[in-house]
Amino acid sequence: MRHVAVQRLTVLLAVAFLLYALAFAWLVRDEPTAPPARQEPLGTGAVLFGRYCAACHLREDLRQALRARGVEVRGSPETFLRQHGDASDAEDHLILDYLMAPGP
Ligand code: HEC
Repeated sequence: MRHVAVQRLTVLLAVAFLLYALAFAWLVRDEPTAPPARQEPLGTGAVLFGRYCAACHLREDLRQALRARGVEVRGSPETFLRQHGDASDAEDHLILDYLMAPGP
C-alpha cells in the first residue's frame, strides 16, 4: 500500500513540475527583450568642461594648475575630481585630457 502512495506522490510531483515548467515558459514568453542600454555620447572634453566646470573655473587657470603639477601626478586630480564637480569619472577623464592637452 505504501508503495502505491509513493508512486502517486511521484506522479503528482512530476505533473506539478511539468506545470511549473510550462507556466514559467508561458510567463517568460512575453518578456520584452530589454532594449540595449543607451548611453549618451560623452561629448568632447571642451563641451564637458563648459557644462561642468566653466561656471567656476577658467580653462587657463586649471590648465596652469594641472600643468604645474606635471602629467605624472594626473592620478591625483582624477581622484580629486571624483569628489569635485558633477561630471562622471569618464567625463572627468575627458576633461582632464582636454585641460592637459599640449597647446596654447
Ligand atoms: C561650484 C563651483 C565649481 C565647479 C562647478 C567646479 N569647481 Fe573646481 N574648484 C572649485 C573651488 C571653489 C575650488 C577650490 C579652489 C582652490 O582651492 O584653489 C576648486 C578647485 C579645483 C581644482 C584644484 C585647483 C588647484 O589649484 O589645486 C581643480 C583641478 C578643479 N577644481 C577642477 C575642476 C573641474 C575639472 C571641474 C569640472 C568637472 C570643476 N573643478 C568644477 C569650484 C568648482
